[in-house]
Amino acid sequence: MENTKKIVLITGGTRGIGRHTCLKMAERGYQVLLTYKSNREMAEELVQEIEAQGYSSPLIYQCDMTEPEQVNSLIKFIKKEVGIIDVLINNAGVLGNSKPFLLTPDQEWWFTLNTNIACVVNTCRAVLPMMIARKKGVIVNLTSLSGQKGNPGQSAYSASKAAIVSFSKALHKEMGPLGIKINCVSPGLIETDMTKDINPAYFQTRLANSPLKRMGKPEEVANLIAYMADEAPSYLIGQEITIDGGIGV
Ligand SMILES: NC(=O)c1ccc[n+]([C@@H]2O[C@H](COP(=O)([O-])OP(=O)(O)OC[C@H]3O[C@@H](n4cnc5c(N)ncnc54)[C@H](OP(=O)(O)O)[C@@H]3O)[C@@H](O)[C@H]2O)c1
Repeated sequence: MENTKKIVLITGGTRGIGRHTCLKMAERGYQVLLTYKSNREMAEELVQEIEAQGYSSPLIYQCDMTEPEQVNSLIKFIKKEVGIIDVLINNAGVLGNSKPFLLTPDQEWWFTLNTNIACVVNTCRAVLPMMIARKKGVIVNLTSLSGQKGNPGQSAYSASKAAIVSFSKALHKEMGPLGIKINCVSPGLIETDMTKDINPAYFQTRLANSPLKRMGKPEEVANLIAYMADEAPSYLIGQEITIDGGIGV
């Protein structure tokens, strides 16, 4: 079944950057399909908010993106409900507990690394065949300034995000000739649940040394993601675009 609206799949759409990306993509006229891991109430609230603004009612689906079987069920649901995916935004991710490497239990370290990589790899594996069949598609993967610079207390998180950049760059070379455009968006310090428990002293030092002296807002990142997903020139491929208010310089 083909839908007349373009379809975007946004993983981890309940909170923070993902939530605002759902709002921006709905504003751009997309049929939004969002996944959540645990928080159905927030997903339903977002559906109501988007409907109240007069946009197409988003579809929601509970899915732990690290579980390939759940991702395959999600794809079956998408095929049945909307038939295609024009845009995939791999937003779901975890920071893990911010602790020095040697104080981080092995299991916790690998959980963060595996979660962030699996969330991206599983969806790409499941969605790409649908995009290849139509010879078009756009993928935006969320990475992080932490993956470029390496943040203390975030060795697994930094490593996972750096891995997603390399994965995306390799994949774009395979998929570009097949009509699929892949880029990464790399935020700095953004006001979301993910950053609310980070050591305040660490925060203040980083902000004090930055040009704007403030954190980014999730809607600012969502604006960039929506632009990369919907409007950016077709010649802009295989890049990691940083949005950090100058913090990383
Ligand atoms: N905030 C920042 O400063 C910052 C900076 C750089 C990069 N980023 C990246 O931007 C993305 C969004 O970050 P955020 O700050 O908006 O995070 P957030 O507020 O913590 O939200 C994370 C989202 O990911 C979902 N999620 C986590 N694990 C999942 C899993 N296994 N399967 C499915 N969904 C899962 C959560 O779903 P539930 O609500 O259901 O748990 C939630 O919707 C992440 O990839 C993050 O690494 C954030």
